[in-house]
Amino acid sequence: MGICFQFLTILAGIFFLQSVIALAGGSGCLKCHEPHYEDKGTCVNCHKGNPRTDRVSIAHHNLILARYADFTMERSPVVKRGRKLIETFGCRRCHVTGAKGNRLAANLDRVLVVARPQKLFNAIKTPVLFMPNFCFKETHIIELVNAILAQAARTEPEAGEIPLVIHFEDEKQDEESVFVKRCGSCHTALTARFGGLGKGNIGPNLSSLFSEYYPKTYGNKDQWSSEPLKKWLKNPREVRKSAQMAPVKLTPDEFSRLLEALL
Ligand code: HEC
Ligand code: HEC
Ligand code: HEC
Ligand code: HEC
Repeated sequence: MGICFQFLTILAGIFFLQSVIALAGGSGCLKCHEPHYEDKGTCVNCHKGNPRTDRVSIAHHNLILARYADFTMERSPVVKRGRKLIETFGCRRCHVTGAKGNRLAANLDRVLVVARPQKLFNAIKTPVLFMPNFCFKETHIIELVNAILAQAARTEPEAGEIPLVIHFEDEKQDEESVFVKRCGSCHTALTARFGGLGKGNIGPNLSSLFSEYYPKTYGNKDQWSSEPLKKWLKNPREVRKSAQMAPVKLTPDEFSRLLEALL
């Protein structure tokens, strides 16, 4: 009798140990899922979640959904398309991503720690006031999120770094600001010196207009700087035949204050 009992507890012990080992390796997920990409890591490496349970709600806590998991793959075409969109739309005017860019807004290399992919998706789909609304299709947003996550996963963020600007959606903007008065009815801009300026969305968001990350929309793919801007304000149609914007006359003093705000 005694012997049988001991035999059973040993068996139960082995069984218990085996399941602990199995669960720790991520295969709690395998209770419900077929394995895939086994050679590339465990489920949790790529999808997060909790493998030590067979309750789906707990197992899927903080799960990285399939559509946001492409960032884990080397040479993913999804990530590649997302990177291209980041370049084309000048996200680096305001954000650091892949260790490059301006610091007017959140450092996107840190998002892997602080934000969930769905939150990033929502932030791009329904942007805050001073982030432009690019009106992307969902597939493009998913590509962008994957590219941001891929770059975040492969970049060591600088320790203790803080964003350059703290900006509020302030109702009372500086009345004296040339930008607010002369451009702000049609444009917005997030600026290092004065925070968010303007309220209009008829014209493009002009944040970091003179930086290398602003899309090269002047003339024949040139970068904006003070002379080109002067020409543009004098007569947009001379720069771009189809321009919608009417000329804006500024005194030399107003123009230099405008440059100060946009720098
Ligand atoms: C008790 C069963 C169960 C367990 C355990 C479980 N899953 Fe799932 N999982 C499901 C079911 C059912 C679906 C499909 C419906 C849904 O999305 O919730 C799913 C869907 C998924 C999806 C696709 C979701 C999407 O929309 O992209 C991923 C990825 C996933 N599971 C990963 C995991 C990982 C990783 C683990 C372990 C940490 C795990 N699952 C554990 C049942 C389970
Ligand atoms: C190297 C990263 C990686 C690993 C490891 C990984 N996945 Fe995935 N998973 C992905 C990617 C990327 C997708 C998106 C579709 C695709 O590429 O198949 C995905 C899609 C899924 C889906 C959605 C259904 C489907 O097949 O399209 C489920 C469910 C899922 N994974 C579960 C798991 C589970 C469970 C494990 C552990 C056995 C696991 N994954 C391991 C990257 C990974
Ligand atoms: C004009 C400046 C500007 C540009 C250009 C811009 N953003 Fe933003 N973005 C912001 C601001 C402001 C926020 C709000 C959070 C903050 O204050 O940093 C934000 C937030 C985000 C967030 C959420 C970050 C988080 O931690 O919650 C994501 C993701 C994001 N932007 C992606 C993009 C992408 C992708 C592009 C290019 C297609 C882009 N942004 C272009 C200003 C900008
Ligand atoms: C009445 C509305 C309005 C006002 C006021 C206005 N703009 Fe514009 N602006 C536009 C519109 C619309 C566009 C879109 C491009 C076009 O016209 O082809 C534009 C485009 C631009 C562009 C080109 C950006 C690009 O990437 O194509 C610049 C630069 C610019 N505006 C600067 C200014 C500045 C600086 C002021 C203030 C001194 C100003 N605008 C005032 C409506 C306005």
